[in-house]
Amino acid sequence: MTLADVTDVSSIDRLSFDIPWSKSSYDYEITDSEHSHMVVLEYRKQDEMPFWQRWLGWEEPVTRHIVGYGGLWNVGGEAHISTIAVHPRGRGRGWGEILLAGMIQRSITLRASEVVLEVRVSNDRAQNLYRKYEFETERILDAYYRNNNEDAYEMHLHLESEATARFQRRYADLLTRRPFSNEYSTVPRPPVKRQGFF
Ligand SMILES: CC(C)(COP(=O)(O)OP(=O)(O)OC[C@H]1O[C@@H](n2cnc3c(N)ncnc32)[C@H](O)[C@@H]1OP(=O)(O)O)[C@@H](O)C(=O)NCCC(=O)NCCS
Repeated sequence: MTLADVTDVSSIDRLSFDIPWSKSSYDYEITDSEHSHMVVLEYRKQDEMPFWQRWLGWEEPVTRHIVGYGGLWNVGGEAHISTIAVHPRGRGRGWGEILLAGMIQRSITLRASEVVLEVRVSNDRAQNLYRKYEFETERILDAYYRNNNEDAYEMHLHLESEATARFQRRYADLLTRRPFSNEYSTVPRPPVKRQGFF
């Protein structure tokens, strides 16, 4: 995710959550936080081109749409999924799974020992996705969400060697079923902008 993506990300956020993040929160996560690893999922479509342009060897134009996004904090060896959402019109097509798998893959690259998240007790869809990737509920957080005092499940995925190997098999299978390119898991985090006198 870059600053140029924030407008599209914010509009998916507003359609997805009762308490959306402010645009400045995204700016902070992208430019200032050294713990944050934000990601967007893009759908890229090759545009039609008149034959004469193809004949002249022009490059095929590509339209890119941001269809989902996620955020990860890596603190003290623990990766924390801070947010994940897919545009309402794109749900149920496997895109949330690609995002989650990408974030777990990134957590492994960052050598995190576990991935943690909170989810509303009423959010069956997200919980099913997390359980599919072997997250387990370890705690119930009372009245965690301030808009309606709903409880949260705190779910964990421990990345010990056998669980990591199982994840890698599932990830390889996902790549065969839904080919996608992952530019997120391996790229280093951009350097954090430092402010100060020097
Ligand atoms: C949660 C969310 C990211 C899932 O993304 P998605 O693209 O719809 O999910 P996918 O199509 O990748 O489905 C992955 C898995 O999620 C679960 N799932 C998806 N749609 C579901 C539904 N309608 N009912 C129950 N489970 C569902 C299933 O386990 C599914 O795996 P399967 O296809 O093998 O059964 C998306 O629904 C979303 O943006 N929700 C609003 C924001 C949100 O709640 N974020 C989570 C905050 S903790």
